Amino acid sequence: MSTVQGRLRIAVQKSGRLADRSLDLVRDAGLRVVKGNNDLLYRVENYPIDLLRVRDDDIPTFVADGVCDLGIVGENVLEEARNGGPTAEVIMPLGFGRCTLKIAVPPTLAYDSPASLEGLRVATSYPKILRRFLDERNVRADIVTMRGAVEVAPRLKLASAICDLVSTGATLEANGLGPRETVLESQAVLIRSPVAPEPGLQHLLDSIIERMAGVVSSQG
Ligand code: PRP
Ligand code: ZN
Ligand code: MG
Repeated sequence: MSTVQGRLRIAVQKSGRLADRSLDLVRDAGLRVVKGNNDLLYRVENYPIDLLRVRDDDIPTFVADGVCDLGIVGENVLEEARNGGPTAEVIMPLGFGRCTLKIAVPPTLAYDSPASLEGLRVATSYPKILRRFLDERNVRADIVTMRGAVEVAPRLKLASAICDLVSTGATLEANGLGPRETVLESQAVLIRSPVAPEPGLQHLLDSIIERMAGVVSSQG
């Protein structure tokens, strides 16, 4: 993907828990967003800015690599994407998209502490975060990585426990799982690229960040 000359890019989730609120924030910051010819790119008509609408998992990489100048993403996704390479810098928490990464188990599993997972299989979409959590507690467990539908893993005997995002708790409840441990608290954050924009766009970038900060603080 090549950078469009003379335009800033903001990466936002295309669909999912952050998508609507991300667009709201951009609009509240004074950017008039219009749909382009394709679904991937929305244009801002009153500034030289484009919104790149992608999967949330891709946002940290796009911003770290300088494909996008700013991004709106969950701390959970950002943390999972950490790989020792260049990283996006967190500018500020945005106060929406709150959720918690939790270990949850079926009623048949006795759970006292992370040590209860010793020797068991745990299904998750967040293998790196979970591995770090278990390593720090000296728990040896197998991690099964699933892209989605993690909550069905215990019923399918794919795993004894899961580590998944919880927001209302409805998904756990519907699947007869009980939350036992918080691994990570998360909310949406604004991130910026370590790669500077072209010099002519630096001032615009700073002012967009400032406006977004104003919107967030006014929402208290
Ligand atoms: C998460 C998680 C559960 C759901 C929990 O998925 O994987 O499916 O939210 O929410 P609840 O506690 O309100 O029921 P999410 O839609 O965030 O992401 P995904 O589509 O990438 O799984
Ligand atoms: Zn995702
Ligand atoms: Mg899900």
